[in-house]
Amino acid sequence: MTYTSEPTNLCNIVELLLTAHIYNQSEKLTEDDLPVRIRKHYWDSVEKRVKRPISVRMQDITSLYGNNNVKQEIKALPFIDFDEFGAEIRFTIPDLAKDWFVKQEEAMDKIRRNPALASFYEKDGVGVSYEEATAYVRPKEQDREYLDSLIAEIAASDKDVDLLTLVHLVAPEDVRQTIDELVLTPEQESKIERIMQAIEHRDYLRDIGLREIGKMLFIGLPGTGKTSAARALSEKLNVPLVEVRLSMITSQYLGETSKNVDKVFELAKKLSPCILFIDEFDFIAKTRMSDEHATLKRAVNTLLKAIDEISLIDDGVLMICATNHPNLLDRAAWRRFDEIVDFPLPNAEMRKNILDIVLSRVEGEFDTQEIAGMTEDFTGSDLRMVVREAVLRSLTENRTSITQSDLISATNDFSGRVRLMMKEYALA
Ligand SMILES: Nc1ncnc2c1ncn2[C@@H]1O[C@H](COP(=O)(O)OP(=O)(O)O)[C@@H](O)[C@H]1O
Ligand SMILES: [Mg+2]
Repeated sequence: MTYTSEPTNLCNIVELLLTAHIYNQSEKLTEDDLPVRIRKHYWDSVEKRVKRPISVRMQDITSLYGNNNVKQEIKALPFIDFDEFGAEIRFTIPDLAKDWFVKQEEAMDKIRRNPALASFYEKDGVGVSYEEATAYVRPKEQDREYLDSLIAEIAASDKDVDLLTLVHLVAPEDVRQTIDELVLTPEQESKIERIMQAIEHRDYLRDIGLREIGKMLFIGLPGTGKTSAARALSEKLNVPLVEVRLSMITSQYLGETSKNVDKVFELAKKLSPCILFIDEFDFIAKTRMSDEHATLKRAVNTLLKAIDEISLIDDGVLMICATNHPNLLDRAAWRRFDEIVDFPLPNAEMRKNILDIVLSRVEGEFDTQEIAGMTEDFTGSDLRMVVREAVLRSLTENRTSITQSDLISATNDFSGRVRLMMKEYALA
């Protein structure tokens, strides 16, 4: 038969049909048992799930796998019924489809990564396991579609849609920063590990009445990885990140500031479990010290109170605040956090590791150890810029690989800037 010669597209289509068939039949399967692509395609944003039955039409295939001329080939398969008018594609004899599929060359790879299919073929003793397949599918909470439908629901229930202009929402799948690509100190690692344990054992902590947990303050110079760490945590924990810039909340309408603060915390509770990340936390200190408008002072008090009241244990909101200027914070602000995480300047070993990560996809002959030795006082962000500079330098010379001397020149160029910044901070 002809269809065996062009298996890739057909295999995708039969995988889709089989997945739909099995998902429709087994109520035990959830959205998390569907391959991400299929799940996203059939996601119902109103009901926040993939509704049964999944039906497969020509347009689903086109949108999932591109515009292929598969009509004829599908029709050639003996177990498929193609309704020309409704354009719905169905199995006539599902068992035949199951047998055909498992004999295809790339089918095993697909089954291994498709929990719905694996749950079926597991019984056939073809060497796949449902358990193992689930590890390949990230949970639905990481999908942008999932967050979007939550947001749509919130927007519909709240006339103040402008709430979303106050915050920046990041779905875990959109986070480009993973924990593995961050070079952390052992202390940072153990604090992050502790918070993950706390989250995992949330119910237990609630039961024993331990609620004073789950508020972290990240302190360190600009460019030491605070924002990246918050984002990476969201990716690691599979929860959305609600990012707030304090200056944004207050800059809108001064009179609304207190209300805005409340709204942001309400949003976080609705998105729970999530991370609420407040950047520029020192902003509150500035408004306290200076002779600011009374409304702003009220807003700051509202914020501090909201921080006191929100809880990881009860509300499922992990609170992370970050500041480049910890010295500006008074004790009242400090005591609200149960975990202070210091983001120091990286030492030579960390600098080498950061350089290795940033350079992992850059071609060339270089010695990161030497550069690490030349870059005292450089932050992770500075090191990224050094690499960027070196890459641009090589490009202007029509090279796509860099040399050690590119890196050394870039480092020297950058040193002045780093010295200037350290001086500024020493003065502050
Ligand atoms: N310790 C580190 N390991 C890896 N990358 C880092 C580190 N510190 C900073 N960076 C990189 O520098 C850039 C800026 O970091 P960022 O998280 O924005 O710093 P901050 O929020 O502390 O100002 C990011 O691209 C980040 O990946
Ligand atoms: Mg930052």
